[in-house]
Amino acid sequence: MCAEKTILVTGGAGFLGSYLCERLLEAGNDVLCLDNFHTGSRNNIRHLMDDYRFELIRHDVTVPICAEIDEIYNLACPASPVHYQIDPVQTVRTNVHGAINMLDLAMRANAKIFQASTSEVYGDPAVHPQVEGYCGNVNPIGPRACYDEGKRCAETLFFDYHRQYGVDIRMARIFNTYGPRMRPDDGRVVSNFIMQALRGEPITLYGDGMQTRSFCYVDDLIRGIMALMDAPATMPMPCNLGNPVEFTMRQLAETILDLTGSRSELTVRPLPQDDPTQRQPNISRAREHLGWAPTIELREGLQRTIAYFERELSSPARVQQPRKTPLVRRTRPVQPHAEALARGVVSNGAGL
Ligand SMILES: NC(=O)c1ccc[n+]([C@@H]2O[C@H](COP(=O)([O-])OP(=O)(O)OC[C@H]3O[C@@H](n4cnc5c(N)ncnc54)[C@H](O)[C@@H]3O)[C@@H](O)[C@H]2O)c1
Repeated sequence: MCAEKTILVTGGAGFLGSYLCERLLEAGNDVLCLDNFHTGSRNNIRHLMDDYRFELIRHDVTVPICAEIDEIYNLACPASPVHYQIDPVQTVRTNVHGAINMLDLAMRANAKIFQASTSEVYGDPAVHPQVEGYCGNVNPIGPRACYDEGKRCAETLFFDYHRQYGVDIRMARIFNTYGPRMRPDDGRVVSNFIMQALRGEPITLYGDGMQTRSFCYVDDLIRGIMALMDAPATMPMPCNLGNPVEFTMRQLAETILDLTGSRSELTVRPLPQDDPTQRQPNISRAREHLGWAPTIELREGLQRTIAYFERELSSPARVQQPRKTPLVRRTRPVQPHAEALARGVVSNGAGL
């Protein structure tokens, strides 16, 4: 990887974004972390705040912004159904307006841009395992559509900016990823099961628990994302990134019970609407063009994640500490942001 670039990471205070910021700094880059803290946390990036190459910008991607950058990783968007369904209109806005704003910025700055797309674009897939050429089976009016269709529209925008304006794009369709720094109240299956097991609460299985997912450990995924950004422009896009080893929800619950030594019972609830029954990536493209494949097995990744949640549970409630270093902003919000500030729609970063 070529070092000493200035790289913007939107959603940089989130679960995946915080690891990406960390790895990009380790590789010698300047990192601008942009986040509105909708689901992200200052705790995820607190350890980076004293690095002079790291800057935090409290900003919403739905509002245009200017910055001098070489690359953009666009990750801003809540990933958990619990969080993206709280304000579905904002979820669509984040995906669609956010993509337009970041693509406009990439065009102005002549920067390469990566989009964090998702396996959710495949919906409840009729093709198994999912290959990039499969166009998906998504309900456009269901409760998950704000995320699924938002991400699909973002994909369209990325490809249209590429065809129409020549923007250099990279795109990963990310499958379920887990690891330390997931929020305990995240609502995704791995964090749910671990928290329930550690608290001795019943583990909630939806449906018969035979629906499958494949789980990728965060370190593997971040390695894949960075390799994709550095891949030649001729590489076919998008590219699935995920772990092809498939587990049923029941197997996942049993593994977590085993690793935690918990006596929690399994309890069964009805399957939520539009919940996919099968999810497994075909990663031939990533293997062939990036030489990438996951290396961390589920049990090992779960052990590290359980240790993290145990620490979180045993430490007193984390209070937000005042930051040690002042915010230095080298970006200049364009007019709509100034208007939004005047209307009180977005924060000016005070109180970070
Ligand atoms: N983790 C996964 O398993 C997974 C799977 C598929 C796709 N993805 C994608 O990867 C990206 C990161 O996911 P994650 O798991 O880290 O989720 P996350 O919720 O932990 O992180 C998302 C970050 O984006 C920020 N954000 C949300 N809306 C914003 C806005 N309008 N403006 C600025 N910041 C905003 C949040 O505050 C948060 O810090 C998302 O785009 C998600 O769709 C993740």
